[in-house]
Amino acid sequence: MTNKKFGTVIVFILGALNLLAADDSFVGSRSTQFTIDGHPFLFNGFNSYWLMNMAAGSEQDGTKVVDVLSEAAANGLTVCRTWAFADGGDRALQLSPGVYDEHVFQALDYVISEAKNHGIRLILSLVNNFKDFGGRAQYVKWAQQAGAAVNSKDDFYTNELVKQYYRNHIKRVLTRINSITQMTYKDDPTIMAWELINEPRCASDPSGRTVHAWVQEMANYTKSIDEKHLLEVGMEGFYGNSNQYNPPGFNQIGTDYIRTNLIKEIDFATIHAYPDLWLSGKSEEFQKAFMQQWTWNHLRAAKKILQKPLVFTEFGKSRKDPGFTETNRDTFLETIYDTIYNLARSSNGSLAGGLIWQLFAEGMDSYSDGYDIVLTQAPSIVNILSNHSYAMSELANAVN
Ligand SMILES: *[C@@H]1O[C@H](CO)[C@@H](O)[C@H](O)[C@H]1NC(C)=O
Ligand SMILES: *[C@@H]1O[C@H](CO)[C@@H](O)[C@H](O)[C@H]1NC(C)=O
Ligand SMILES: *[C@@H]1O[C@H](CO)[C@@H](O)[C@H](O)[C@H]1NC(C)=O
Repeated sequence: MTNKKFGTVIVFILGALNLLAADDSFVGSRSTQFTIDGHPFLFNGFNSYWLMNMAAGSEQDGTKVVDVLSEAAANGLTVCRTWAFADGGDRALQLSPGVYDEHVFQALDYVISEAKNHGIRLILSLVNNFKDFGGRAQYVKWAQQAGAAVNSKDDFYTNELVKQYYRNHIKRVLTRINSITQMTYKDDPTIMAWELINEPRCASDPSGRTVHAWVQEMANYTKSIDEKHLLEVGMEGFYGNSNQYNPPGFNQIGTDYIRTNLIKEIDFATIHAYPDLWLSGKSEEFQKAFMQQWTWNHLRAAKKILQKPLVFTEFGKSRKDPGFTETNRDTFLETIYDTIYNLARSSNGSLAGGLIWQLFAEGMDSYSDGYDIVLTQAPSIVNILSNHSYAMSELANAVN
């Protein structure tokens, strides 16, 4: 069989798998596995944080949502992580505390409805740690403008007014009635999970206790509104301030992977890995070895201590790295996908899938962060992704 024919057959099979997955069942979890209708759920997926932002723009911007979802679906990707926030600024969803732009909310409605049409489930993140699209800094600024005694963005985690603003956002999003499907977000099985915050950090409390207390409170609040959906924190995986497994220089992040993921209301653990940033200057081999060890360590804790599934929610390789070549990006991705596959198999689906950072549609160069990949322009990555999608779906049958 030529490669081309093999590719066509694979893409055909993957398309059929996606249609099969596009049902009305919620993703659940049982011990250390994700389930759909009682069967183990394993997947290959991606990040495209920008979907709502593009859908809120011009007609031409809006087409990028369907472009990326259909390219992803054709390659067997069934989970997408994206932002359900834009706090203040251009194309804001939340214009000011509790005030929402209906046009932008309709853009999010559209993203969810199109994800469903493409057989893709969503992980929706509710706020950013960083200042992009508002984030913690914007919430603290709003509280300051309202007269609260806040002065650092770490007050996000403790100030009562800021916490009230954030709880309002959770409630507003979860109880939104989709203007296209008429389904309330909290009842929509297209949504796989909510994420409390993208990459929480808190430099003023490296022990992780501040973030931990906030997660416990907000997890309770989220579950009080929505018991149907899974919930995760959004953590990168740093192990508090005294752990040999953190990369060098990453003991002051302010999160504690094991302690915080033990919270009962948190349904699964997450990790991110950017050895190109965290270990910059080290060799490719060293970075790959770190990434494998990082994944293995977190999976071992997820299975033995947390007794919850693990998702590798972000990884990628930047074109901005010194010495970057497409070949070393491809080998890095192949290594990651081999690691995910092998650990998913040896853990019986506890490591359930990975989400590459990140997929773009064509014509988005101005949004580039160096990690973006346009599948129509990256045939080697299409091969790697579709092969991995196929391998993960076969594995799901095997652990079934
Ligand atoms: C969260 O809910 C649990 C019950 O599941 C309760 O024990 C705990 O005190 C609550 N924590 C907060 C911070 O509300
Ligand atoms: C396809 O995926 C399997 C399982 O991850 C891996 O062993 C194999 O090397 C991959 N092949 C290609 C061509 O990427
Ligand atoms: C693997 O998962 C399947 C499906 O949940 C289960 O029936 C089986 O007992 C598991 N195997 C092991 C070794 O845990």
